[in-house]
Amino acid sequence: MRLVLLGAPGAGKGTQAKLLGEQFHVPHVSSGDLLRDAVRKQTPLGQQAKDYMDRGQLVPDDVLVGAIEERLRGRECSQGFILDGFPRTIAQAEALERMLGKIGCPIDAVISFVVPASALVDRLGGRRTCVSCGALYHTAYNPPAVAGKCDRCDGELFQRDDDKEETIRARLQVYERQTAPLLDWYRDVGTLIEVEGLGERQSVFGEIVNKLGAVA
Ligand code: AP5
Repeated sequence: MRLVLLGAPGAGKGTQAKLLGEQFHVPHVSSGDLLRDAVRKQTPLGQQAKDYMDRGQLVPDDVLVGAIEERLRGRECSQGFILDGFPRTIAQAEALERMLGKIGCPIDAVISFVVPASALVDRLGGRRTCVSCGALYHTAYNPPAVAGKCDRCDGELFQRDDDKEETIRARLQVYERQTAPLLDWYRDVGTLIEVEGLGERQSVFGEIVNKLGAVA
């Protein structure tokens, strides 16, 4: 199973990618997580990416594409992957096609999440992430049992640096300008599946699985 998840910041890509990864037993590959890890470890990739991420701008293709290709060509992804946050531009979509063409494994489907902008801001403002296992919470919609602690592993929950209101606005504008055109691109290719992303997490997941069943 090779899926691409496409959607605005806060649309629920990471949340659904974790569920889909468990369902299909394939890794969740998140370009954002990959970059945040590189920033934390202060690798050359992280050093080049940090300033763009802090401003809510896209990291340049020449900085990121090689790292994604390395990950997708790894043994862990040989049976498939759930790709979250990549591609985000038409140039990245073309690069992904070339990468997958080399290994002879095309994408099965591109899932697009439809969520109104007002809900996105609300979701991102309340998001909390576990520093140890990466589990996602929301202060109102999916709160942990004990404030600030992960239910699964007791790790500390943190708020992402780019989830400040000003940066959220910048990220939403970048999405409209640079990423939304990909919807038509994948519609033309014929791999796009649109899902209503506003419902409860499990019902969004159910809709994805149903629609994937319909195209399988
Ligand atoms: P990235 O980490 O990819 O962030 P993003 O695309 O902005 O997406 P988010 O992770 O913010 O949101 P999401 O859709 O995953 O939502 P989530 O499931 O967490 O990118 C960060 C930065 O890295 C970029 O700005 C850029 O600088 C750089 N970057 C990354 N990829 C790049 C690329 N390809 N090219 C260039 N630069 C790149 O959900 C959000 C919240 O909502 C959570 O609290 C969750 O609990 C809650 N929630 C989820 N679903 C529901 C639901 N159904 N109902 C209620 N609440 C829900």
